[in-house]
Amino acid sequence: MLAEKHILLIIGGGIAAYKSLELIRRLQDRGARVTPVLTRAGEEFVTPLSVSALAGAPVHRDLFDLTSEAEMGHIQLSRSADLLVVAPATADLMAKMAQGHANDLASTLLLATDTPVLLAPAMNVRMWDHPATQRNLAQLRADGIACVGPNEGNMACGEFGPGRMAEPDEIVARIEAHFAKGPLNGKRVLVTSGPTHEPIDPVRYIANRSSGAQGAAVAAALRDLGAEVIFITGPASVAPPDGVQVVPVETAKEMSDAVDAALPVDAGIFAAAVADWRVASASDKKLKKSRDGLPVLEFAENPDILKRVSHMTENRPPLVVGFAAETDTVIEHATAKRLRKGCDWIVANDVSPATGIMGGSENAVILISDEGAEEWPRMGKDAVARRLAERMAQALGAQN
Ligand code: CTP
Repeated sequence: MLAEKHILLIIGGGIAAYKSLELIRRLQDRGARVTPVLTRAGEEFVTPLSVSALAGAPVHRDLFDLTSEAEMGHIQLSRSADLLVVAPATADLMAKMAQGHANDLASTLLLATDTPVLLAPAMNVRMWDHPATQRNLAQLRADGIACVGPNEGNMACGEFGPGRMAEPDEIVARIEAHFAKGPLNGKRVLVTSGPTHEPIDPVRYIANRSSGAQGAAVAAALRDLGAEVIFITGPASVAPPDGVQVVPVETAKEMSDAVDAALPVDAGIFAAAVADWRVASASDKKLKKSRDGLPVLEFAENPDILKRVSHMTENRPPLVVGFAAETDTVIEHATAKRLRKGCDWIVANDVSPATGIMGGSENAVILISDEGAEEWPRMGKDAVARRLAERMAQALGAQN
């Protein structure tokens, strides 16, 4: 239920705007109050009269509405809501948001707000796939803006693919999840994830095969329990989850700096596969083949982020969780690793090829803490993440 929740609904200009009329209904059925804002382009698809009649409130359309401007109307409007929902979020609106434009009422409200924002993108498949839109999306995610959809399907323009706006029920479910009170409400957690890339020269780098799947699943599970999540990720192949603050990094050094910038937090989960070494003096020019023989790469040790954070005297998170990928005598190795690193828990898994875990969708983990080793049955990476998030919620709850 959304009783007493105030949603500012910005309706952009797209054929999907008709679904936003239904969305207003569904939100009201759940007890929410909806203040509608209609863009100029939106007015081409739905009329101000139908929007305001359904919302039971006047629809806002103009930035230069002098009466309200005298009272800083747009600032007030953007901050009085509990959530801003943009549906449909067009390519143009997303571009404006990513760039920080404020040249009409909708973009000004979105720039002036300090309230969480949820986008329901809708556009032609090619527009969605265009690098410019994907760049804007990545920027918006990094700014902590959440997205629901778009879905795949037949589109009004006759093409097929991702671009259809999420259905009103889906958007409502996402809004309800946003307001759900979880045991980690008010807790701030950081998650490192993915591989790191260590440059050899401007075009070559050393990397590893981590997909970032387990880290992304842990971040999503913590978000679902109400935590504010800072997701520090190397160049992973799995997309970061919505609704978390994404900090993209490339090298171990950058990851280490991003972790420092995120502190203090209530918990740190170090799921990244950080490269242990970097090339000591990466070349700023591309290395050329030479007659003098093969290049020799000298390595330097990277900062051990988990170990460094675990040993901090100031700002050490109350709960520090590391991961260990082992191929033999898993419990002994992981137990020793927990002590060596100084973290509270180690989530250990057996990644020997026979298990099929590396790169697969399942995981079989052993949670190592000062109480010993607890073997969990083999389950999906999402289920492992949920169980870990619940354990963390219990542990953090017990510390209060
Ligand atoms: N880790 C880190 N910074 C590093 C290296 C590792 O934060 N420079 C973290 C990882 O995110 C993970 C844990 O430490 O939580 C893994 O420890 P690591 O020593 O890298 O384990 P292995 O690679 O399994 O090392 P070993 O060769 O000792 O088995």
